[in-house]
Amino acid sequence: MERNPFLTQVISQVEHTQRIAPNASGHVAAFVTPEHTYKNAGAVLAALQPEVPVHLFRPQELRQSVTHFLSAFDEGLGGLSMYAVKSNPDAQVIAQMWQLGVRAFDVASLNEIKLVRSVCPQAMLAFMHPVKSPMAIRAAYFDYGVRTFVLDCVEELEKILAATDNALDLCLVVRLGLKKGNAKIDLSAKFGAYPPEAVHLLKLANVSAPEIGVSFHVGSQCEDPQAYARAIGIAADIVAQAEIELDVLDVGGGFPARYPGMTPPDLGKYMDVIATEYAKYPVLQTAKLWAEPGRGLVANSGSVLTRVELRKGQNLYLNDGTYGSLFDAGSACEWRFPVRVWRDGKVLKGTKTAFSFYGPTCDSLDAMKGPFMLPDTLQTGDWIEVGQLGAYGRTMRTDFNGFGDVLEAQVADKAFK
Ligand SMILES: Cc1ncc(COP(=O)(O)O)c(C=O)c1O
Repeated sequence: MERNPFLTQVISQVEHTQRIAPNASGHVAAFVTPEHTYKNAGAVLAALQPEVPVHLFRPQELRQSVTHFLSAFDEGLGGLSMYAVKSNPDAQVIAQMWQLGVRAFDVASLNEIKLVRSVCPQAMLAFMHPVKSPMAIRAAYFDYGVRTFVLDCVEELEKILAATDNALDLCLVVRLGLKKGNAKIDLSAKFGAYPPEAVHLLKLANVSAPEIGVSFHVGSQCEDPQAYARAIGIAADIVAQAEIELDVLDVGGGFPARYPGMTPPDLGKYMDVIATEYAKYPVLQTAKLWAEPGRGLVANSGSVLTRVELRKGQNLYLNDGTYGSLFDAGSACEWRFPVRVWRDGKVLKGTKTAFSFYGPTCDSLDAMKGPFMLPDTLQTGDWIEVGQLGAYGRTMRTDFNGFGDVLEAQVADKAFK
């Protein structure tokens, strides 16, 4: 996939800055601040007169959710938050994470490893994709200082050991399988070891590495804190059966954002459940607590502006769609994203009616049935802002049908949610 030109520019700036000016604080290699912060989407449209979708970034919102999470998990529970880079791999987001105190990153690929290293060279990186290529493992270990690797089968363990030349300083994390839960996005189908294999794997990992962990993922946008309780109980049971001393209990991601119409419990409730369950099991007491939050940290910090190329009755043909940054807003998620219309620098008011969205490609799957409630006076040429797309928005973008181009802008107004 071709890289977003803005991201390429940011990364090259970061690399350039890193080469010529090692940071004074010894922390962030470079923090790239965009040249201008606009008041809101209306000001962006007036200034840029864009012909392609625009991704809006709100650093103040990122700051709020990250500091909230860090104070709850890292300070409150003594845990370590590892930002799940896949949810938004924007170099600015990564740099800001580091500035706000995030010291560890959950990475899924060698490219994510390179990206994080280029922005914050001292970060701890955990390679949390259960299926990795030998080349990626080798480069991660020897070239990028990665020591933490996840696995969910014996073959992957063998691969990690071989690719690292039987390294003696690994932290091996066994990803546990969970039954399909009630999270909005199920992640149980693809990865994870179940007992008795999980027990066997833990024993094997224990003789292969000085640090051993277990991890799980309760599913993304998990509105039920008890899902963490159940998963921690399963983890404790497996660790007890394996009779090992556990170093890491990684409770994964899944912490929800508050999309319209959804009222997940406050983050504090999740923390209470995790703390209570963790304290309950003697076999977990040797373990540090880790988490891999993605969506909950970044969702509110981004929105997308997309233009109505044609209004055909109640159907709107947009210049962004499910092959672009509206993948989640279209087919993948069962919830609604907030929408509003911008015209002449202002939000369009008026009686609302239900619209369906169609993306720009020729594929019939490139459709979002909504209903999206927007003013009935909406016309071809208006711009629609889709909010809460800081997570799994720009990162899902493809160049299918040649529609991959986007612009980026930073805005100062509150999150649109
Ligand atoms: C291994 C892993 N960790 C963390 C995350 C982030 O999850 P979320 O965005 O739900 O917090 C994901 C998402 O797919 C994942 O696969």
